[in-house]
Amino acid sequence: MSEDTGAVAGSGLHLRVPEVRFGDGAVTHLPTVLDEVGVKRPLVVTDPGVDAAGVLAAALAAYDGPSERLDAPTEPSTDDLTPEALPDNVDGVLAVGGGSVLDTAKLAALLLAHGGSPADYLGAGRVPGPVAPTVAVPTTSGTGSQSTQTAVVHYEGVKRGVSDEHLRPDRAVIDPSLTFGLPREVTARSGFDAFVHALESLTARDHRWIPERDITYQGANPVTRPLSQQALSLVHGSLERATMDGDDRAARRALSLGSHLAGVAFSNAGLGAVHALASAVGGMTDAAHGDCLAACVATGLRYNLPVRRDAYAGIAADLGVGSTAEELVGEVMRVRDALGLPDSIGALGLDRGDAGAIVANTLVQERRLVTTPRLPDEDGADLEAAVVRSFD
Ligand SMILES: [Fe+2]
Repeated sequence: MSEDTGAVAGSGLHLRVPEVRFGDGAVTHLPTVLDEVGVKRPLVVTDPGVDAAGVLAAALAAYDGPSERLDAPTEPSTDDLTPEALPDNVDGVLAVGGGSVLDTAKLAALLLAHGGSPADYLGAGRVPGPVAPTVAVPTTSGTGSQSTQTAVVHYEGVKRGVSDEHLRPDRAVIDPSLTFGLPREVTARSGFDAFVHALESLTARDHRWIPERDITYQGANPVTRPLSQQALSLVHGSLERATMDGDDRAARRALSLGSHLAGVAFSNAGLGAVHALASAVGGMTDAAHGDCLAACVATGLRYNLPVRRDAYAGIAADLGVGSTAEELVGEVMRVRDALGLPDSIGALGLDRGDAGAIVANTLVQERRLVTTPRLPDEDGADLEAAVVRSFD
């Protein structure tokens, strides 16, 4: 059976998405959206940077109701949030920020409803019921967290996930105009994240080989592939322009839409080796997610080559950058370098002696590895060889 044919009927595919408002000025609908989900006094989760840049005020310009505020840490850890740290007079969560803010907001909505610590819910399908109503307003174009069911959180030195359908925000309000003033390095890092979301979800293991489990990472499938393709085309066509010329509003809008579609696609299809490696490296270095992806992307794509040669060649042709898998890998590396992102795991300060630990921390990323195109050996020897080679 070919991997890329397959009927939707009877396959049990389930596309899960939050209701979305998209476009310049979308935040003017915020009062209506909060009303729709029954929130009268939201906990506004944001961070001081979003506030200082004037983006928080822009996002909330149309909302004049009561609220409380919680500032999210740059890299949330399981110890950062306790029920005692949360006000008890709120009835929902309004997240205004980048990936860390949105992830912190999901955990806050979880603890408001169920108490405990984020560590109690690590893994997939461990949230006992609905969380507090959540509206997500992303201020970067990257993580797609406004449309996903996962909050990434540091736990004992590894980036782990709390993944559960109850965490997917009820509403997303995506206003590209909030990203018009984003600094170059934030645009580059978060946009590269979206680029890899699109690419890895498009080439994830086919859904028919993925066992049923407690998370909607179903493998690439006929519903998600067109979303991934559209996301990849939009992000590839806009990321460099949006980074190099922050005033290119058309590029900002394309990147905003592309990163959102990539989030919808990967949160239904799953990701692969690049994200698994990057999560491991991120836990060991504290480097930003986009930097870790850039550092790991060549290693992960080359590791997949034996099982994705044809798919990568087709994508190279679709993007107009060549006709072979090697040319796609070359293009990804060219974009990475043009954006000034780290070009190797070594560039993040790790060395060959860390390869064993990187692979051990990769093999625990179960939610990623189930959908990766090439499953690592049980002891990770083949993946370790690929990581060691990356230090040559
Ligand atoms: Fe990511």
